[in-house]
Amino acid sequence: MMKIPQFKSFVNKKDYYREVKSVFEKKYIAEGPLGAKFREQLLEITGAKYGVLASNGTLAIYLALKALGIGRGDEVIVQNVTFIASGNSVEMVGAKPVFVDIKAPDDMTLDLKKVEKKLTKRTKAIMIAHLFGSACTNIREIKKFCKKHNLLLVEDAAQALGITDGKTHCGTFGEVGTFSFYADKTVTTGEGGFVVTNNKEVYENMLYLRNQGRMSSGTFVHPRIGYNFRMSDLQSALGLAQLKKLDHIIEEKLKIYNLYQKYLGGKVKFLKLHNKFSFIPFRVIVFVENAEKTMMQMKEDGIEPRSVFFPLHKQPCYTYLKNKDKEFPMSNECFETGICLPTWIGLTKKQIKYTSKSLLKSLK
Ligand SMILES: Cc1ncc(COP(=O)(O)O)c(C=O)c1O
Repeated sequence: MMKIPQFKSFVNKKDYYREVKSVFEKKYIAEGPLGAKFREQLLEITGAKYGVLASNGTLAIYLALKALGIGRGDEVIVQNVTFIASGNSVEMVGAKPVFVDIKAPDDMTLDLKKVEKKLTKRTKAIMIAHLFGSACTNIREIKKFCKKHNLLLVEDAAQALGITDGKTHCGTFGEVGTFSFYADKTVTTGEGGFVVTNNKEVYENMLYLRNQGRMSSGTFVHPRIGYNFRMSDLQSALGLAQLKKLDHIIEEKLKIYNLYQKYLGGKVKFLKLHNKFSFIPFRVIVFVENAEKTMMQMKEDGIEPRSVFFPLHKQPCYTYLKNKDKEFPMSNECFETGICLPTWIGLTKKQIKYTSKSLLKSLK
């Protein structure tokens, strides 16, 4: 029996050691020259005017919301199917997350038709998430909607580095966009995050907030309240080494996706993609009649599948919001039918075939 884990990190040791050596040569292990270089390269990739590094993707969203002035008394519409950090960062700034269903079980994109009746005088922003390697399928409509209703658009692009339609990179449609460099992300620094914006004032707010309320270190005079959201150069060294391999990472992930398509295409549904944007499978997502049953079969065969996100309205930590389950049929079906298949660099054709066979066995 094969043993196939859900994920293995891709760390290119040779490049990493070269970058990390320069950290020790410069004797600068806190945030320094490599952080600046990593930031510049990320700005080039995303095409954003301004950007700041953050300690992780969750704090990146928190920093973004804080810099936009969102806080107590405000409400933020949050896509109901996403990682918990999208909702929690709203809660963390003291605002209320208002969850809204997705478009379809196989399209993890905010359903705009359901947003309007959730708007109140307190709604300040909409937070969407570009998930599993695809851009939100209605990102341009969401942007128009925000403009019409005078709402800020916050994009959780934690999983979306490198995804673009050739003109606009995910994370740069809205007022702010955030990225994660957690171990399983397209580019990783172990832990890490990044926030982009084209708004100078928001950028300046972030500079203060991320560095103890001052513009530069080395002074103990703090004009504003701020915290520490910095990232060390050891982490940026890993990020720079990863960026050198970005084309390779994308190519390998697409190969995996295409193999799953070859073995499963036409037999199960795949996640709906935005066909005008590039696609970098963060995980390969498929939909079956009963995800729990299929995952059980796969586990018996030594494979580690994973469910898709448990809808936010159902999270035990959010019962205090008293959401009505019947308002979220698409999110519920998405969870009951969706499976994350192992998607990591190094996964062989044989392993993908074995995983696909096991999945199909459960459908009989
Ligand atoms: C959609 C989404 N949002 C936010 C995060 C939070 O990022 P981090 O784990 O770096 O805090 C993640 C990743 O873990 C994510 O997948």
